[in-house]
Amino acid sequence: MSLDSAAAVGPPVGMEVRLSSNEAPFGPSPRAVSAMTAAVPEAHRYCDDQATELRAAIAAHEDRDVEEIAVGTGSAALLMDAIGHECRDGGDVLTFERAFIVYRLAARNAGVDYVEVATGGPAVDDAGGYQRSVDALVGAIDEHTRLVVVDNPGNPTGAHLDADELTTLVEGTPRHVTLVIDEAYHQFAVGHRGYATVAELGLEHPRMLVMRTFSKAHALAGMRVGYVMGPRSLVGEVDAWRTRFNVAAPAQAAAVASLDDTEHLEATVRGTLAGREQVERGLADLGVPHTPSLGNFVTFEVDGPAAPVIDAFADQGVGVRGLLPYDMPSSIRVTVGTPDEIDRFLTAAATVLV
Ligand SMILES: Cc1ncc(COP(=O)(O)O)c(C=O)c1O
Repeated sequence: MSLDSAAAVGPPVGMEVRLSSNEAPFGPSPRAVSAMTAAVPEAHRYCDDQATELRAAIAAHEDRDVEEIAVGTGSAALLMDAIGHECRDGGDVLTFERAFIVYRLAARNAGVDYVEVATGGPAVDDAGGYQRSVDALVGAIDEHTRLVVVDNPGNPTGAHLDADELTTLVEGTPRHVTLVIDEAYHQFAVGHRGYATVAELGLEHPRMLVMRTFSKAHALAGMRVGYVMGPRSLVGEVDAWRTRFNVAAPAQAAAVASLDDTEHLEATVRGTLAGREQVERGLADLGVPHTPSLGNFVTFEVDGPAAPVIDAFADQGVGVRGLLPYDMPSSIRVTVGTPDEIDRFLTAAATVLV
């Protein structure tokens, strides 16, 4: 499996309709735009290394103490730091098959083994999808396991653990093992198919870190802001490992303003959920098997290799994501765009896929 940077990241360049990177299609909050614009003339100053205002805003939003929050340049950077830190003396990273690729990259960088628990899939005739067995994951924890990480919901599979399964995972993970729950897409999942966040369920574990990002529902992917929540001693240790002055001042300002703009956030989530239904309905109408998704994307299956299909979409100006790095050679992930972008995608799909 290729883990070079070109295989792991980056949308195809020059696509008119860019549905390859799970970005929010409606743009950032106007308040965030004002705040980051206002921060630009101060670019000669270093940003606040402690991100005091942003961490306070997140803490208030999450009803936690400031010391229980650390911020990073996207949750991907925090995942790299957290996994690197926790595995600094060795031990395996354990996760589900086809989990978010950054976990694998982090394990590679840390020089530790990456252990995957098999999942179901692919979707066939819309039945199933990439189901995960939490019992199998908990059962796979052994004396070598240092850290367990789960994307909930998962990218690119869209699969999720429901409230009971998440509770089983948290309760079943030994107290000395670090547990990372990555909730990058939680705003698109809450209230659907039994999904619940760690916070909603009030789950506790002495070594649990919950990852969040401003890249998805907050529509600030280009600003690179994410955060981690957990017990203060653990968060403090991970924070001590990060690059200093990591989150740039305009990014900090944008995130603070975005947290305040619940109206924009809710409109983004509403529009994305409506779009997700539009994509899933459109694919179903075309008879294309796909996984019911709880993210801002849908993963569908094609006959044979995905690469020529992706090229055919690209010929029509539509960028979608191949999943070879996930060992999913016949799967394609499409991000939920604006209604117009979805129309463009479905129009192209009608010729490319049928
Ligand atoms: C499951 C998951 N976690 C984390 C991230 C990282 O997001 P960011 O680094 O932009 O915060 C992504 C991005 O696609 C993701 O899919």
